[in-house]
Amino acid sequence: MKQTMLSCMVAAACATLITGCGSSETTPAGDTTASADTRASQLVAAMTLDEKIQLVHGTGIGVGPLGGAGYIPGIARLGIADYYAADSSTGVSQLKLNGNALTAVDNGATPLPSGIALAASWDTALAREYGAHIAKELRTLGYTEGLGGGVNLARELRNGRTFEYSGEDPVLAGNMIVARTLGTQSEKVVATIKHYVANDQETNRFTSNSIVDERSLRELHMLPFEIGVKEGQPGNVMCAYNLVNGDKSCESKYLLTDVLKNEWGFRGKVQSDWFQAITDTVKSVNAGLDEEQAGSVDDDVGFFGVKSHLNQKLKAAVQAGTVSMARLDDMVKRRLRTVISLGIHDSPATPAGKIDQALGDSVARKVAEQSMVLLKNDTPAAASAPALPLDAAAINSIVVIGGHADVAVLSGGGAAGTPPRDGNAVACLDPNGMIGGQVTACAVWYKSSPLDAIRAKAPRAVVTYLDGSDRAAAAQAAANADVAIVFATQWQTEAGDLPSLSLPDAVTDRANQAYDQNALIAAVAARAKRSIVVLENGTAVTMPWIASTHAVLAAWYPGVKGGQAIANVLFGDVNPSAKLPVTFPKSDADVPQKTISATDNDVRYSEGLLVGYRWYDAHNIEPLFPFGHGLSYTRFAYTGASSSVDAAGNLTVSFTLANTGKVAGAEVAQVYATLPAAAGEPPQRLVGWQKVTLAPGESKIVSVTAKAERLAIWDVAAKQWRLPDGKFTLAIGGSSRDKQAAGSSVELRGRLLPLSR
Ligand code: BGC
Repeated sequence: MKQTMLSCMVAAACATLITGCGSSETTPAGDTTASADTRASQLVAAMTLDEKIQLVHGTGIGVGPLGGAGYIPGIARLGIADYYAADSSTGVSQLKLNGNALTAVDNGATPLPSGIALAASWDTALAREYGAHIAKELRTLGYTEGLGGGVNLARELRNGRTFEYSGEDPVLAGNMIVARTLGTQSEKVVATIKHYVANDQETNRFTSNSIVDERSLRELHMLPFEIGVKEGQPGNVMCAYNLVNGDKSCESKYLLTDVLKNEWGFRGKVQSDWFQAITDTVKSVNAGLDEEQAGSVDDDVGFFGVKSHLNQKLKAAVQAGTVSMARLDDMVKRRLRTVISLGIHDSPATPAGKIDQALGDSVARKVAEQSMVLLKNDTPAAASAPALPLDAAAINSIVVIGGHADVAVLSGGGAAGTPPRDGNAVACLDPNGMIGGQVTACAVWYKSSPLDAIRAKAPRAVVTYLDGSDRAAAAQAAANADVAIVFATQWQTEAGDLPSLSLPDAVTDRANQAYDQNALIAAVAARAKRSIVVLENGTAVTMPWIASTHAVLAAWYPGVKGGQAIANVLFGDVNPSAKLPVTFPKSDADVPQKTISATDNDVRYSEGLLVGYRWYDAHNIEPLFPFGHGLSYTRFAYTGASSSVDAAGNLTVSFTLANTGKVAGAEVAQVYATLPAAAGEPPQRLVGWQKVTLAPGESKIVSVTAKAERLAIWDVAAKQWRLPDGKFTLAIGGSSRDKQAAGSSVELRGRLLPLSR
């Protein structure tokens, strides 16, 4: 009976006359061999106006039996399942609305390391695994759509969401999001890329207007989305809260229809960000918006006082003809086509059991190990080897100091923070403490103790812990120990920007920080025989104490197995191989946007093309650590670079990479291009990379390829990518400022590139 009902109900002929469907004949929409496009069209044709409207807006946050971030009820008569979306930047966040409160369900989901950590791995296979793993957990819990996938560029390092994005370079961010998207969708979950576009700070996030010239927009801010959409084909693109050049992102025909859908060929749906992303029903929908979230059951009442636009108001607009039925059909069809083509329609997600926590833990640990960046590793006075790795057999005493390293590791806050599995490991110091004077913020800490993991690695050493609040005691303990390891934390969260890149203290982060971390590190480093700083950070950190410490490891927010992963890197069980996805400046004064204005809604991208390392290169500003930097316990040598282009302008760069040290390791070999001077570009840009694992003494010939577009500039007059005419020089090395094999070049004949590639 069920089968007959389903196959009948989707047929256009049966749409209005269910009782007339007696035959069991397979309709095209029920025929799984028909194309997703055909099946989606037939489902749309079978729908009433109310049903169409029902499918293009959410009904609030934490609602429906499952909860989550968004819920669109299904249409049983057409075999269309309930559609739940959950935040899943780092793991599944399942919110439930209880009365007026949203609470996170402890569902066993795995908190993975943050997005910037994943980007620091520069490992596309790992990004694919990351996306696939979260998708498996989403599906296990009953979700159809994951809301991870943030790729806004780190134009403003103090942006409270830097930790959840993929760094400052569009090609790095773009390639990582392609891999993540493919991983997610391979597990029958709709992937999201967000927040489209130029959504680069949290201050005034609902009202700020990013004023950015077209060339910078296309070459930088839109590029990760372009690469992600063309090569990853996500089912969902979330448009942002902010305005871009005067238009709300979710109401911009240029962004949504002209470029995303028509030029890039995006076939999925455009979804609004959750609150206040829309001001005008007709404008947004006619601009290309396909779905409103969080939405509500009554537009005039709204959800939590935020009025919505794509329920009764959209129906009225369709009835009045200000939104065409064809547009509404397209909105519905975009979602259906995706769920059909990914196999979700024929096998909908249902809550189906328990999360495999052992598997989650191993993915979390692996990602953490592959994403920690060894920033500095000097040889202490009176020692014969660099400070790291630690040799347990040769160490009698270790003092671990601060950062709650006795119990936990830090997580980022907001939609990208996965709730802890078994409660928050560290109590908030002040629930009214604010970040950047904007958002009250109590950090989440995962129960994963670096101290315990360090103790397990060095069973014969005396390993003590001090909480860091007594600077003099910490310095004395450091002087007495063979090794001092200070843990420093930098809490970031959605909805508020950091006031500074300086490590927070009890003034700048009252909720989570009890003391002056910079002063603590300086005091310890001044006395320690061997001083190591481990950062749990979401973005760049300034380090006034850098000259006096021997080693610094950026561990980011390392997820639920962070403590174990940190110890594995410190003791050399894992050889660090990650590289910075953002430049670390020496001081706040070195960044392009000097201050984030709380009062001026216009955010002028006056740095133009000089985002990230491009700024430091163009202005000859020496960074603390450059983009792409990261040390290893072994050494790599690059020789014999050569490069060529094919007839279409696609580039291949080849070179020999050797591991010249004594341990196995992986190197992220990066290729940067300098364009012909007449192109008017910054000094260099990343065009590609390869992460290569080599045994000690081993060497390999490595080839990095890059599409012609990676060498192109946006031609504002032609509205196309243009290959500039002339000589492109290529440099290869282990960071943007470590050019080991420079000097190879290619000559290109200038021309416009076809838009549709
Ligand atoms: C965030 C999105 C998130 C959504 C749902 C918004 O405030 O900007 O990234 O997916 O909330 O939680």
